Amino acid sequence: MSLVEDHDFGTPAVKSAVTVSLTIDGNTVSVPAGTSIMRAAAEMGTSVPKLCATDSVKAFGSCRLCLVEVEGRAGTPASCTTPVAEGMVVRTQTERLKRLRKGVMELYISDHPLDCLTCGANGDCELQDMAGAVGLREVRYGYEGESHTKLEKDQSNPYFDYDPSKCIVCSRCVRACEETQGTFALTIEGRGFDSRVSPGAHEDFLSSECVSCGACVQACPTATLIEKSVVEIGQPEHSVVTTCAYCGVGCSFKAEMRGDELVRMVPWKDGKANRGHSCVKGRFAWGYATHKDRILKPMIRAHISAPWQEVTWDEAFAHVAAEFGRIQGQYGKDAIGGITSSRCTNEETYLVQKMIRAGFGNNNVDTCARVCHSPTGYGLKTAFGTSAGTQDFDSVEETDVVIVIGANPTDGHPVFASRLKKRLRQGARLIVIDPRRTDLVKSPHIKADYHLPLRPGTNVAVVTALAHVIVTEGLVNEKFVRDFCDWSEFEDWAAFVADPRHAPEAVETLTGVPAAAMRGAARLFATGGNGAIYYGLGVTEHSQGTTTVMAIANLALATGNLGRAGVGVNPLRGQNNVQGSCDMGSFPHEFPGYRHVSDDATREIFEKLWGVPLSNEPGLRIPNMFDAALDGSFKGLYVQGEDIVQSDPDTHHVTSGLSAMECVVVHDLFLNETANYAHVFLPGSTFLEKDGTFTNAERRINRVRKVMAPKNGLADWEVTQKMAQSLGMAMNYTHPSEIMAEIAATTPSFAGVSYARLEELGSVQWPCNEKAPTGTPIMHIGGFARGKGKFVITEYVPTDEKTGPRFPLLLTTGRILSQYNVGAQTRRTANTAWHPEDLLEIHPHDAENRGLKDGDFVRLQSRAGETTLRAHVTDRVAPGVVYTTFHHPETQANVITTDYSDWATNCPEYKVTAVQVAPSNGPSEWQEHYREHAARSRRIKAAE
Ligand code: SF4
Ligand code: SF4
Ligand code: SF4
Ligand code: FES
Repeated sequence: MSLVEDHDFGTPAVKSAVTVSLTIDGNTVSVPAGTSIMRAAAEMGTSVPKLCATDSVKAFGSCRLCLVEVEGRAGTPASCTTPVAEGMVVRTQTERLKRLRKGVMELYISDHPLDCLTCGANGDCELQDMAGAVGLREVRYGYEGESHTKLEKDQSNPYFDYDPSKCIVCSRCVRACEETQGTFALTIEGRGFDSRVSPGAHEDFLSSECVSCGACVQACPTATLIEKSVVEIGQPEHSVVTTCAYCGVGCSFKAEMRGDELVRMVPWKDGKANRGHSCVKGRFAWGYATHKDRILKPMIRAHISAPWQEVTWDEAFAHVAAEFGRIQGQYGKDAIGGITSSRCTNEETYLVQKMIRAGFGNNNVDTCARVCHSPTGYGLKTAFGTSAGTQDFDSVEETDVVIVIGANPTDGHPVFASRLKKRLRQGARLIVIDPRRTDLVKSPHIKADYHLPLRPGTNVAVVTALAHVIVTEGLVNEKFVRDFCDWSEFEDWAAFVADPRHAPEAVETLTGVPAAAMRGAARLFATGGNGAIYYGLGVTEHSQGTTTVMAIANLALATGNLGRAGVGVNPLRGQNNVQGSCDMGSFPHEFPGYRHVSDDATREIFEKLWGVPLSNEPGLRIPNMFDAALDGSFKGLYVQGEDIVQSDPDTHHVTSGLSAMECVVVHDLFLNETANYAHVFLPGSTFLEKDGTFTNAERRINRVRKVMAPKNGLADWEVTQKMAQSLGMAMNYTHPSEIMAEIAATTPSFAGVSYARLEELGSVQWPCNEKAPTGTPIMHIGGFARGKGKFVITEYVPTDEKTGPRFPLLLTTGRILSQYNVGAQTRRTANTAWHPEDLLEIHPHDAENRGLKDGDFVRLQSRAGETTLRAHVTDRVAPGVVYTTFHHPETQANVITTDYSDWATNCPEYKVTAVQVAPSNGPSEWQEHYREHAARSRRIKAAE
């Protein structure tokens, strides 16, 4: 095995319909007009020496190392900043050029600490490479005199060091921060000899605006910016391309290794979702994989207050089979069920639902998508015929006007946010619909044209008001609607939205959004060119989540913004494999490929293959499992890779339901909060320890490749397989590729997917089948999957969750960049440097009314429960609205959220809870009690 090398062409690729031919060192090459001489040479295999150029950022032309000679031109132009011209004759290697380049390198080296043998970048340093490339053998200027070699290091960032003594002021880091990441955290401070890279005035990296994405580290040609892990472990010697296991962007990475130790994660340039970029989580937050808290041996216990007893795998499987058998014998076949994980691979998820349907003999399978994007599945399937987003991420490069609604991509989907911000800096217009002033509303070089700060719970009213303006002001794309939609359904819908009660002026008070802003935003979206809508959980996690998804679809249909690049309806998925877990049949009413369990033809496919009769009755959804447990009819649960106690709403309901069960099996990396209620614990494996695939928010199926052996001895798919075998099922896969072959054989949208195809293409977006053998980047081109696009009437129905004198504020929840979901992984990394605890954002007026200052402990109370956390006083939230994250179990924000849910899918209404906030002296009695219980239930007796 060796390192997967990315070839650096020196300057970015140029798109042009015009091709230019030139001669370089006697060879002819043809490239798109506008390409640099450096890139043209690289494309024919000639590397011109360079330091300040790299193909991820625009050329800057500062180092003067890449000089070339061009026939008929005076001087020696820099090849990185000089574009090619038809008939140009270039020489990259002459005596004059050699002399000039050596001179440049002499100057650099005379001011560089010559500690190559002990430098962390030794062997991976472009300065070192260039000294070799130009044949530098001596430095005529000596090493005395004034230099930068004694400058102090900045080691404040938990993941990388900044050593200015090694800086060559090439500004690649500054450009990466600006162009790739879009944070603008770095500048070159000072002039001439005093110039140096600075993360802000008198600031270190940790206290600066830097979001630790690592783009600057990757761009740095020297050891000036270098990963601490490389300094500690040494240079990697082989790498494996795999996929990030955090969010739904699905970034591709090279896992760079020494032996079986991970040295660093480097975003893969050929990754089609991320194009060589990453965020702090994927690049740096992988330390949880070797954290001491990981449980590596199976454990059982008689009851949830007893200490855990380590057992062998075989004993654990036998115990589960006996308990589940006993429960089904005593309470009936439907008394057990399971929950699949959106963090696990497609293959693992497919196996869990197979085990439940064929082994348990019921359809009691559900997934964490229930609590996030189930309304997306239902809403988009109704409108377009497919339960998925319509575009690929590249599509954003052709967007002219973007609506971001109920999503905070800079925190939740950072790499997509960077791509979006790049397009916005190029001139695309932006409408943000969100109760909070998220970073997208205003950040360096970005300013939303409209921010509609709606009251939580009024999404449907706002989106319908936008539709009202589009219809009543004659902005509908009638040709698109006539060509691709049902005209009579459109007419009904148009009459509905045109009703004056849906006018912006009529809903201004209700929504809290000025009517003029709604009118302006609607006109901009309908007339601004290619319009794309991106949305997140701020849309779905409401009692009208599905209605809002359909209202968004209506808006795209009415304006003709579907079926081509630059447009579309794009759900930003939370977890890495939410799309995949839904595709793989994790819902109780659907087989893989979204086919209803009552559909005889589909059932027959699986019955034949699996050799057992299958139920045609939808099984229980997650909240109904808890209801049934409290009723005494549901007694056994297998939970793979999901911490339902921390992530699901109304914690009290969840824990009461779990406490009423007789055998709860938790399969996870750590003893999470749910494990406090478990009788069996099966250790899980990380994404680094297994093969498989994840499907990201663009329907892109990416390979996950094993880079080290599972620390617990078994990959998760093997655990499920052995458990299924212990239940008497014949399941004998030898590799996940065989599971994918079965998925392809049974699921039409995956018919063309195989590991060989993924190897060949890198990744594919489903549908991938006979009609689309290389996948489908953009859906619904020339017509909808369901035939005609469907307009749906979206009547606004206020949530039952109301503010009043007892609970006068509205709580909405979300996530933060450095943490992920319930924090089980990220809390076990140095990412806690940025977010050690959940905070309650509260507007200064609301804080003042309650006598609260920034940092005070506050009691947050709803009709469901209460918790205590610290206040952060900020005008990012509007008066009357408070906001918090749910990353820390000590806070348990979901103790507060209620049991209200989406009418169609039961997706919980996380985003609207009426609360009161009051001063507090510290953690509540409930929190103290909870901590004691958690500590008790984590006692482990070693195997005898
Ligand atoms: S880590 Fe990212 S955000 Fe921070 S300075 Fe580097 S490029 Fe900018
Ligand atoms: S820190 Fe690295 S990338 Fe930035 S200017 Fe210095 S040498 Fe160049
Ligand atoms: S954006 Fe998402 S997928 Fe990409 S590195 Fe960050 S967490 Fe991973
Ligand atoms: S690489 Fe062209 S001037 Fe530095």
